[in-house]
Amino acid sequence: MTTDRIAPGAHLLVTGGAGFIGSQLVRDILGRRDGTRVTVLDKLTYAGNRSNLETVESDPEQSARFAFVRGDIADPAAVGPLVASADAVINVAAETHVDRSILDPEAFLRTGVIGVHVLLEAVRHDTERAWAGERATTPRFLQVSTDEVYGEIAEGRSVETDALAPRSPYAAAKAAGELLVRAYHVTYGLDVVTTRGSNTYGPHQHPEKLIPLFVTNALAGMPLPMYGDGMQVRDWLHVSDHAAGIEFALRHGEPGEAYNVAGGTELPNREVIGRLLEAAGRDWSLVRTVPDRPGHDRRYAMDGSKLAALGWRARVAFEDGLPATVAWYRDNPQWVEQARTGEWDAYYTRQYGDRLAAGRAVDEVVDGDG
Ligand code: NAD
Ligand code: TYD
Repeated sequence: MTTDRIAPGAHLLVTGGAGFIGSQLVRDILGRRDGTRVTVLDKLTYAGNRSNLETVESDPEQSARFAFVRGDIADPAAVGPLVASADAVINVAAETHVDRSILDPEAFLRTGVIGVHVLLEAVRHDTERAWAGERATTPRFLQVSTDEVYGEIAEGRSVETDALAPRSPYAAAKAAGELLVRAYHVTYGLDVVTTRGSNTYGPHQHPEKLIPLFVTNALAGMPLPMYGDGMQVRDWLHVSDHAAGIEFALRHGEPGEAYNVAGGTELPNREVIGRLLEAAGRDWSLVRTVPDRPGHDRRYAMDGSKLAALGWRARVAFEDGLPATVAWYRDNPQWVEQARTGEWDAYYTRQYGDRLAAGRAVDEVVDGDG
């Protein structure tokens, strides 16, 4: 393994740390009790939830090494002072749901492009200060990206040198953010690393994505809206593995490089749905085939050997992680209820109202009719 580029007791700025993956990362880092300090910068959008950090904030030892700032990564006044006091910045913040990006792309561009630019400008400023001897460490910047920047891949697995070919507004914003990160490395010499993670699942995920939506609907006896024929393939990665992969790349990644964080569990949606129904004690009578997502990517699959060569691997098997995730949602109804307040009903009606009205039971679907 290469040397650790993050010194003991470092101060990390984690943007988007109140969300699904960011909060796992923060809980894991602070829970190790090794002196690392963390500041979270989070806008608390509909997807951000401060209670995801409750175990940190209620623990005296961890909370002494933790600070929370509510703010926008696209706001230079919020970002500048936080970057000035950080040894490394992990940009987890983003608008993250493909379906919402199809309904309303603008917020994706503001956070995914302008937000990344604002962070990079602050890191550039502090890199130049470090070169001038005005601060002790040169800040490292890690951009959390996604397999979706590669676009769909019919066969084989995407490798880091493949061309980026995003096909949804979400994926296009993520690709644009990555390209800016790379440009700041090449042009201004910033110390940057990018990770591209695969579809992530686990506790604390806002119930809009496939697994948490279908698990919470199944537990409530509500219909499960399966897009098209349900044979789209995703590579599933447990959230604790995704967080570990991000931290590993931060510590051991080479400057300017991108790393796939692959789950290694490629499954068609129908298989995932069958397994989660089983874990929830429900059957296929809840599932409806509904009109497809426009531009729906058929398959994502990544080759994870570049990060594996540095010594990282995923640990949680889908066979264990999925039932544990179902159990977490069953055991945390208040968390789910809180996530389904505010604009949830309006979103749900807009996304699924007409679809569910046009939906059919799965056994009504004959081959090729999906
Ligand atoms: P999430 O939607 O659960 O959380 C996003 C967090 O970012 C929220 O806390 C939100 O309040 C915050 N945020 C949004 N806009 C912000 C802004 N302008 N300024 C500050 N904070 C802001 O997302 P997630 O699923 O945890 O994803 C985290 C990252 O991982 C994203 O960059 C996403 O693209 C990437 N990713 C996610 C997956 C997945 O399957 N969930 C897979 C690969 C990569
Ligand atoms: P999603 O969780 O939105 O992640 P992504 O689009 O980023 O891969 O969707 C995962 C798969 O599940 C994708 O093929 C779309 C499908 N899906 C449904 O069939 N129904 C749904 O209601 C949702 C949200 C997703």
